[in-house]
Formats: sequence, structure tokens, C-alpha cells
Amino acid sequence: MLAIRLTAEPDRLDTVALPVRPSGADEAPAEPVPTAVALPDGVADTAVALVPLARLTGRAGEVRDQLRPGAVPTRLLLVGIGEGDEAAWRSAGAALVRAAKDETHVTFGLPVGVSPEAIRGLVEGLLLGSYRFRLGADADAPALAGVDLAVADPDAHEQAVELARTTARMTRLARDLTNTPSSVKNPQWFADQVAEAAAGLPGLRLRVREPEQLAAEGFGGILAVGAGSASGPRLVELDWQPTEAATHVVLAGKGITFDTGGISIKPVPAMKLMRKDMAGAAAVVAATLGAAALRLPVRVTALAPLAENMVSGGAFRPGDVVRHYGGLTSETTNSDAEGRLVLADALAYAVQELKPDLLIDLATLTGANAVALGTRTGALYSDNDQLAKDLLAAIDAAGESAWRMPLTADYVEHLGSDLADLYSAPTQGAGSVLAALYLREFTGDLRERWLHVDMSAPSWCERDDAELTRGATGWGVRGLLRWLATFA
Ligand code: BES
Ligand code: MN
Ligand code: ZN
Repeated sequence: MLAIRLTAEPDRLDTVALPVRPSGADEAPAEPVPTAVALPDGVADTAVALVPLARLTGRAGEVRDQLRPGAVPTRLLLVGIGEGDEAAWRSAGAALVRAAKDETHVTFGLPVGVSPEAIRGLVEGLLLGSYRFRLGADADAPALAGVDLAVADPDAHEQAVELARTTARMTRLARDLTNTPSSVKNPQWFADQVAEAAAGLPGLRLRVREPEQLAAEGFGGILAVGAGSASGPRLVELDWQPTEAATHVVLAGKGITFDTGGISIKPVPAMKLMRKDMAGAAAVVAATLGAAALRLPVRVTALAPLAENMVSGGAFRPGDVVRHYGGLTSETTNSDAEGRLVLADALAYAVQELKPDLLIDLATLTGANAVALGTRTGALYSDNDQLAKDLLAAIDAAGESAWRMPLTADYVEHLGSDLADLYSAPTQGAGSVLAALYLREFTGDLRERWLHVDMSAPSWCERDDAELTRGATGWGVRGLLRWLATFA
């Protein structure tokens, strides 16, 4: 990860970045923003002259790279900061690391009176925009190793940098887990990664259930989905329990380490990316680790039901009836509707044994998420207006996107089965909504304190876009951490 340093006395001046903003007036060119710390003579004048000449608009994400042979700095980067809000600074940070990837170091002169929100956005943008996932040697790894942020009072901004650093570190962890190929990433591997990450943070308790234990306790959904794989299922339970916590939140995340669809096998194009089908589990684990790293005064338990949905002589079949934790049964006519089966167990277990105040789950649950909302927005469901509002606000402030969807009452009848309590894969109605309605059946007393996000679509992106990099996005970590930080 890039080294980010706050300084009032910048001493590495080979490459300097300066902020540029729209001047506000119609059609008027952009203008450089006065910086908090004086930079070498002439730099500010160059910037003033360059902005109109280069036809800069100052919009967030715009970067102009100017060479100055024989002068200090030799390279001047003019960086658009748009409206100067947190989101704009996040885009600016991401654009800067891309533009400066071949430099070893950049000093960024920040505006007079820069806010902690701006710093937080900027640092997140720098650290997330520079994310790369490579297996083995990275032949063309970027040279950029450090960014100094020049401000008048570094101490005043230390906390914002630390928040951003932890948020980015955990988002990057979720991206790493999700990008990892399923030849490496089986349920036990995932559990090992959680153990490794948790070992570095005091106060976390980890329990990993293996198949024998899952069978003894009745986790029938996790066992059914995992039955076809040579790599058995696991249930990861990671608990952050600070003594001062007044609220207990359970975060459950779908952890299918690969989804072939099972006997109801997926066609080739649909299966291609199914290593990402544990992005929900990655997000809830990373958010819980983040809560521990920031020592947030809220109890958080992450539950990651992990299984590989494979095709084999041991695989569960369409039409099998699965008995979930707690006793509800599902008729499983489509083995590709596997995520809801493992989550049903996790939710029922949380309700019956952990009895939290609030129950949240994140899952790459349906292709229908993208049909309804496009490629960047999660589908959020809850019967609790306040909880929905709070989560949506946190997700939005964090730079992620979700849209509240209805738990439509007239679809509920489609969940009925002749053989079992529930039918797991109704073909009528909207797919993402039905999956949410199915999960709600497992929330018991917590029905009004439960929230579900179908994040199939935003868990992945096809090309670099501001702080997102091609591949896994780590969606959910930022929003969850923001929300958890509100339990002061
Ligand atoms: N993991 C998939 C959902 C998915 C699809 C995630 C595309 C990301 C991108 C899930 O297990 C699945 O297969 N869902 C089915 C449900 C259906 C069988 C009721 C779907 O969406 O088609
Ligand atoms: Mn599936
Ligand atoms: Zn799946």
C-alpha cells in the first residue's frame, strides 16, 4: 500500500501536485487553489499561467501533467478537485495515482483550510485507485511508493488519514479475497485468511466450524450446498466485542467460493466470474476487522457461511428438501439458488443463538440485481425504515451506491411449496425481490431489525473507474464501516 504522510515542511519536490477547481463563473476557466504550505518559487505562477492555456475545467478526476526541465519541481501535476466535497477528492486522489504511476513520489500541496472530509476522500482515492491484484511477480508494477500531503497543521488531520487508511486497507483485503482464483480459494483457505488477518488485531474471537460440527448443530443448508465439493464447507464466526458496546450487530455474508450452479449448471458465460460469489462474506469480514482496527464501540459478529457449489456424485439435487438450522425446510428445485440456502442457516443461527440488536446480510445473490439497477448499485431491502435510511446514508457518504427495493407482499405466495416450508427458487416475480423475501422467512423475531443487500452487480467492475479498479470492488466495506462508526 502507498505510504501517505502529512507534512508541514515538504522536502521531496521532484514531482508536485496542485489542486485546481472550477472558477464558478459560467464559461470561465478553472483556477488553481491557494495552498496551505508555500511551494518553490514560481510554481504557483506556472499553475496560474497553465490552467487557461491547458483549457482545464477543474472537474474532479482531471489531471494535467507538465514537465519543467531544469526547474524544481521538474514535474507539475494539476489535479481537478471539482466541488471539493469528499467524493470529488476521492476521484481526484484516484486520478492522481494513475497519472503519477511512473513517479516514485509525489508531494501534493493541499488547499488552505482543507477539511478532514476532503483529506479522508483524498486518501481513500489514493489508496483504492492504486490497488492492483497480481498473482506472482508484477512485472510492470507502478513505481509510485509514497505521497506527501502538504498541510499547515498535520496533527489536525492525522485522524482523518487513519480512518481512510483503515477503510482502504480493509476494502483492499476484500478485493484480494474476491479476486483470488477458486483454485486457491476454497472454504478452508478463506477461513485461514480470516485467521491471519484477525491475528494482527487484539480483541477478536474467531470460531471456524467444520462439516462434522455443522452436521451436529443442524446447518443443513450449508452442508447441502457444500456436498458436491471435494473442499468441504465451513462457517466462519468472527466476533469483535468491546466492553463498552451498547449495540450488537450481526453481519452475515454469502461465501460461495465458486458457483457452478451445481446440478442446475450455469452456461459458460454465466459461470466465468463465479469466483466472486463470496464477495458478501469478504465484505462483512473486512468490515468487522475494520471495526476492531478502529476500536469502534459496537459489538460486531461476522458470519460467513462458506461452500463451493459444485457438480459431482455427492452434489445436492434439484428437488431435494433441505432442513435448515432451526428446523425450517426448503424445496430446492434449482441448485443454482444456493446463496440463499447457506444464508438461511446463518440468519437462523444468528436469531436463535446470537440474538443481536440488528441483523444485516450482504450477498451476491441474483443476476436480477443488475437487471433492475445497473452495474454499480446494490439492491437494499428492509422492513425497518430507519435502518434502511441509516444504511443508505452511510453507503452514499462512503462513495458506494444502493437503492431501496420493496419486499413486495403479493410475491410472498410464490414461496409456498407442497413438499416443504418454502420453495427456494420461485420462477415468478422479480428475482432479487423473491430472494430477499425468502431470506426474510429466516429472520424470526428480528424481522423488523433485519436488512439485506443484494450486491451481485456492484461487487465487480469491468474497467477502472475513479477509486474502483477493474475486478473486485470490495463493495460494502466502506458503507458498513461508516455505519458502524455511527454507534459512538
Ligand atoms: N451467484 C449467483 C448470482 C449472480 C449472478 C451473482 C450474476 C453475480 C452475477 C446466484 O447464486 C444465482 O445463481 N442466482 C440465480 C437465482 C435463480 C436460480 C433463482 C440467478 O440469479 O439466476
Ligand atoms: Mn447460483
Ligand atoms: Zn451464487
